[in-house]
Amino acid sequence: MLLVHWPDDRPVPQVLKDFELLKKAGITRHIGVSNFSIRQMREALASGIVVYNHQFHIYPGSVNRELITYCQDNHVSVTAYSPLDEGRVVNDRKLSEAARQQGITPARAALKQLLALGLIVIPKASKREHLEENFAALSGGDRDGQS
Ligand SMILES: NC(=O)c1ccc[n+]([C@@H]2O[C@H](COP(=O)([O-])OP(=O)(O)OC[C@H]3O[C@@H](n4cnc5c(N)ncnc54)[C@H](OP(=O)(O)O)[C@@H]3O)[C@@H](O)[C@H]2O)c1
Repeated sequence: MLLVHWPDDRPVPQVLKDFELLKKAGITRHIGVSNFSIRQMREALASGIVVYNHQFHIYPGSVNRELITYCQDNHVSVTAYSPLDEGRVVNDRKLSEAARQQGITPARAALKQLLALGLIVIPKASKREHLEENFAALSGGDRDGQS
């Protein structure tokens, strides 16, 4: 899948038409977009070109439900990028309390919340313990006795 990373000055349908050429040439199987507003998503879908995925910044303190619902209602999967808010979720008091009550870590609680909304999440981790924790959350694993 190839994403239009950021909308620019060009009309959305024109950009998508160019991406459609790449799809027809077999360079990509799917076309996605990233960082589009709801207005830009409407323009994208009105173009008639199939938009497979929308990737934008979503984390527990910032969930644009209107945009998520609009995409999902129109068969566009949604990816939450920086779902741990670049690591800052661990300092979120509300989330930490919710995590404490569930006996899980704040990072895991964050991913769990987003997955429950039907989102794809793409946390980045360089530490092995973080990778293992996130993988367990993503796979719905029960490694530490919690799901
Ligand atoms: N489409 C776009 O415009 C766009 C923009 C920004 C980002 N992205 C994508 O989003 C993805 C991830 O974004 P991101 O790196 O900005 O933010 P992120 O995944 O929200 O946060 C990464 C930070 O969280 C820490 N972390 C990971 N797992 C943790 C855990 N279990 N407990 C505590 N801390 C944890 C990492 O630490 P360690 O590294 O020390 O493990 C790292 O500092 C990337 O694939 C990136 O390409 C897309």
